[in-house]
Amino acid sequence: MTKVTVVGAGNVGATCADVLAYREIAEEIVLVDIKEGVAEGKALDIWQKAPINAYDSRTVGSTNDYSKTAGSDVVVITSGLPRKPGMTRDDLIETNAGIVKMVTENVIKHSPDAIIIIVSNPLDVMTYQAHIVSKLPRTRVIGMAGILDTARYRAFLAEALNISPKEIQAILMGGHGDTMVPLPRYTTVAGIPVTELIDKDTLDAIIARTKSGGGELVKLMGTSAWYAPGSAAAQMVEAIVKNQKRVFPVCVKLEGEYGIDDCYLGVPVILGKNGIEKVIELDLNDDEKALLEVSRNHVKEVMSVLDKIGNK
Ligand code: LMR
Repeated sequence: MTKVTVVGAGNVGATCADVLAYREIAEEIVLVDIKEGVAEGKALDIWQKAPINAYDSRTVGSTNDYSKTAGSDVVVITSGLPRKPGMTRDDLIETNAGIVKMVTENVIKHSPDAIIIIVSNPLDVMTYQAHIVSKLPRTRVIGMAGILDTARYRAFLAEALNISPKEIQAILMGGHGDTMVPLPRYTTVAGIPVTELIDKDTLDAIIARTKSGGGELVKLMGTSAWYAPGSAAAQMVEAIVKNQKRVFPVCVKLEGEYGIDDCYLGVPVILGKNGIEKVIELDLNDDEKALLEVSRNHVKEVMSVLDKIGNK
């Protein structure tokens, strides 16, 4: 039986649990939250939708009782505060680092064989936090950002080209923030290089909008997005539990790839039953390498803030 835990029953966690349930990605989905009754209520609501939407996955809620999560194959951590207008993701570090640390400790106690997917912000550094605390190999502690960022990029391109978003394939690298690196050279529309279909100014504007895509939604809603982030995390779970070997950009600790060591950054990987089956190394040109370096430097800076706070 496939069991998946989602920690944090806020908007992102509840959306992720809902997608996992209605798409029958796992047989049992445990939703955990610290707020009394919230996870139980949302899990029950999702289960009551099963007869309408015709699915069999069971959803179970728990107020901070991690014994219910025991033996999970995959755990998605969405816990922590979302940002408010005017904040950067990095502004959340002090609050969210402590939360992610505590949650990871609890998760690992009950599911030592799990693969952990981090969604909390600042994403790359929270992946670092969970990796240190869990002591799992890097292949089993993975940050969700690249699927979300490429989804935004693909959606904007689909709109500009008046084409199905399904036709657009793209890779994006770097940290989950303004320094992320969308890669037009690796963006195609049904195999056609995107640069043959769109003018440079429009493409540049789409890249700029993608980089601040999360902030655009925070400004509109007064809080962070949830539909696309929750769905993106569920897509990663699916690739793992079904051993799909899909190629996605995810956040992982780099150990020499791209000439970068000891930094958590988004890169393309193959996702399967072991988590990260392989990190794919692209032959970046000098401009792309320079952009990735800027992103690396930024993430490294925030990693050192976490080191100062004390992350062990
Ligand atoms: C996102 O990109 O939607 C998330 O990282 C949340 C945020 O605050 O932007």
